[in-house]
Amino acid sequence: MKGIILAGGYGTRLYPMTKSISKQIIPIYDKPMVYYPLSVLMLAGIRDIILISTPDHLELFRKLFGDGSHLGISISYLVQDVPRGIAHAFIVAEDFIKGYKVALILGDNVFYGQGFGKMLKKAASLEEGAIIFGYYVKNPENYGVVEFDEHLNVLSIEEKPQKPRSNYAVPGLYFYDERVLDIAKGLKPSVRGELEITDVNREYLKMGKLKVLLLGRGFAWLDTGTPDGLLEAANFVATVQKRQGLYIACIEEIAYRMGYISREQLLELAKPLEKTDYGKYLKTLATLDLESS
Ligand code: G1P
Repeated sequence: MKGIILAGGYGTRLYPMTKSISKQIIPIYDKPMVYYPLSVLMLAGIRDIILISTPDHLELFRKLFGDGSHLGISISYLVQDVPRGIAHAFIVAEDFIKGYKVALILGDNVFYGQGFGKMLKKAASLEEGAIIFGYYVKNPENYGVVEFDEHLNVLSIEEKPQKPRSNYAVPGLYFYDERVLDIAKGLKPSVRGELEITDVNREYLKMGKLKVLLLGRGFAWLDTGTPDGLLEAANFVATVQKRQGLYIACIEEIAYRMGYISREQLLELAKPLEKTDYGKYLKTLATLDLESS
């Protein structure tokens, strides 16, 4: 399975914070926002990743991740010239995803919770159809909204409905089979002029091939769309990291634990970060017995 991180848009809702830099580069506590979605794809076991951003911002990401080989993965870069919607990402990445299953994650979505790694591996092993997630929120009208029965059969999916049929928002993380490219190509732009991911999901629903997995109570899917949301997300990460001494979205740690890089490589990655707690954390990891931590 291939992975796409969509880090497009101009983040105008966060101006002036994002006037000269990409939203997905600004930090959430101690690391750039895009580390969080990258860590999700890595935890799903996806090693072939494409990052899509605007012409102005693409180089920032390239500087941050290079070709990904230091993490034992491959990252390539593509430009989305104007924001044409989430589903447009599949068309941008056509040459890369043709004939493959694909996971798409939005570059500003932050997830954290127990058992998420297992859930991601399950989703990444999908044979046919599509998998989306459902997360209970108090303001579903701001998101894609999924309605389902007690057996988790999806009944409807709507984009930002005025009268939501459930409280379950659909986060920006989706798993699809090989058909997603053709489905995206067949879409018409919505009223806001975008190729909507919700319309892709609706096509899978029509075929009876859309599954929803629930991210339960206690799970964190955080909002990064406002200054307050960013501050709260940063505080959340800081609180968990300080209390447990275990890091959230530490991509070097994930690469090491997944066996993509060796202990020596991990220590190499720690060197330029030596002065920070992040770097010290990487160094400590290299001394741990992984089985027991
Ligand atoms: C997009 C999707 C929406 C989804 C949300 C998750 O909304 O269209 O279905 O729930 O991402 O972050 P947008 O950010 O384009 O408003």
